[in-house]
Amino acid sequence: MSSTTLDPLDQMVADYSLVTNGYAGTAPNNPYPMFAELRGKCPVMHGDLLLQNQIPSMADYMMTGRPTVTLLRYKDIHSVLMNPKDWLSYIVGDGFGAAVDNMLLTAMDGEAHDKFRATLAKPFMRTEIRKLVDTLIRPVVMDEFINKLRPNGKADLVRELALPFPIRAIYAYFGFPHDADLLSNLASWAIQVVAAPQTDPELAAVTVPQSMVAGQSMYDTVMPIVQAYRARGEMRADILGHMMQVEHEGRKFTDDEITLFIRMLLLAAGETTTRSFANMMVQLLENPDVLEEVRADRTLIPKAVSETMRRDPTAGAVARIAARDMEVGGVAIPKGTAVLLSIASANRDPEAYEDPDRLWLKRPMRPLLSFGFGPHMCMGMHMALAEMEVALDAMLDLPNLRFDPAYPHPEIRGLNMRGPDAIHVLWD
Ligand code: HEM
Repeated sequence: MSSTTLDPLDQMVADYSLVTNGYAGTAPNNPYPMFAELRGKCPVMHGDLLLQNQIPSMADYMMTGRPTVTLLRYKDIHSVLMNPKDWLSYIVGDGFGAAVDNMLLTAMDGEAHDKFRATLAKPFMRTEIRKLVDTLIRPVVMDEFINKLRPNGKADLVRELALPFPIRAIYAYFGFPHDADLLSNLASWAIQVVAAPQTDPELAAVTVPQSMVAGQSMYDTVMPIVQAYRARGEMRADILGHMMQVEHEGRKFTDDEITLFIRMLLLAAGETTTRSFANMMVQLLENPDVLEEVRADRTLIPKAVSETMRRDPTAGAVARIAARDMEVGGVAIPKGTAVLLSIASANRDPEAYEDPDRLWLKRPMRPLLSFGFGPHMCMGMHMALAEMEVALDAMLDLPNLRFDPAYPHPEIRGLNMRGPDAIHVLWD
């Protein structure tokens, strides 16, 4: 839980663990045998698999008792995500939307979503992000993290790299000043907002008000940065520069609108990359032959990123709600029913992936669902991929990288927001 006495990095670790615990519930650390069994028995399952495991579910974050069906097959989930007219997204904002004045792109639907996304999209396009690899992402990863860690011969990759580096990179791309305390505070508040939904009412009585305070603190901190950027008048090729120059529905954004948008991005941009990078490193270290394969052929790095994200995704589930009476796999889904889409299950569906449990870099390509799919597919995907690729490249330069036997083997936990608590490693 939050405490003002912790140093900022410890605070981040504590908040991160709170989220992991909240999304682990009573589920087994390795949920894949459970998914396989359910997919075989009832791939379109009445009920909410997350709530059944005491995990807050975006299908009904406020626990109103909304009827929910869980989908476990790749083809069903892909089809729902590709059909946003019949399957709406607004319910995703229920849980922590209040803490961020309901400014969440994921929770917008229809034309309003498409127009807004189109206005915002440019700085997140692949071509723009690729320009950042050598100018921003690699310098941040190498100079601020890897070069400092290298002489130590050991690290907890979660605490010392995975938690701080994605936030540091995206903050630089926002156009924020470089200030370590600012960065840690904003990161902790973002995690506190994400931690708001809890199934335990006693815990929720703490996390929900805390999330409201955190959301307000984020706003109050970001607003003066936005104002100062505008006052300087020098528009750079970063996210703030783009937001200040672009027009939406015939006018430019106000400082308030930009602040709300940046706050939304802060929720989406940090922890997800942290957890995906951590899950990738655990899987590669558990499969030393695959780690060696990538070390020997660095052109496989993008495959290593996407294959580890398939095999153990951090965003284990997303949700939609039926806009009209629907049917999936022969099961009637009445209007107003939520569907919980188990991406983690879909990613191991043998109908979609041959030998799905195997970490196999050269497996035949398929659209990856780990960033979602369709019109809401992660807008920051190219940033996240570039960050993970650069960080993996740096890891491969550490000779004889291996788990530190002095610590317990890291366990990736949770049905959503999956991740390990720590990854203690050694190198020569
Ligand atoms: C590996 C890291 C990441 C993962 C696994 C991830 C996962 C996701 C997923 C699954 C969605 C779709 C949610 C849904 O359809 O309901 C999504 C949406 C989104 N993500 Fe990411 N994300 C990551 C990194 C980022 C980063 C770095 C940013 C920003 C720089 C970002 C910004 C967004 C935004 C703005 C949306 C909403 C898009 C829309 O609704 O149109 N994400 N992300």
